[in-house]
Amino acid sequence: MILTEIDHVAIAVHDLEAAIDYYKRAFGAEVHHREVVESDGVEEALIKVADSYIQLTTPTRPDSTMAKALEKRGEGVHHIGYRVDNCADALAAMVAAGATAIDKEPRPGSRGTTVAFVHPKGSFGTLIELVQE
Ligand code: CO
Repeated sequence: MILTEIDHVAIAVHDLEAAIDYYKRAFGAEVHHREVVESDGVEEALIKVADSYIQLTTPTRPDSTMAKALEKRGEGVHHIGYRVDNCADALAAMVAAGATAIDKEPRPGSRGTTVAFVHPKGSFGTLIELVQE
């Protein structure tokens, strides 16, 4: 088994502050890590749940893929991050199993991780992010 943990569930939101405030009031949640990922045009707030995260995510510019997704599908679950020991090996295994890679090669993600996205088409409708810590 290549997957070692559900790294994060990414939830697209219009208003990051409002979402953080809601998670705080509803669950007593505190933001564990917050980061603007310039290359992806997003700002993320990570809430730690055991060894996984809820990743509240909002676009920082109108041309980012996150902005387009929000426009098209509205708020809600955007992708699932699967934690792996080796992102390149996991990506190769997925492609060999018939998946379509969005990132042909692993690249830097937030909080110092190495990541690769795989298209929902070919993965039963779920946008998958492979995450190596
Ligand atoms: Co992610």
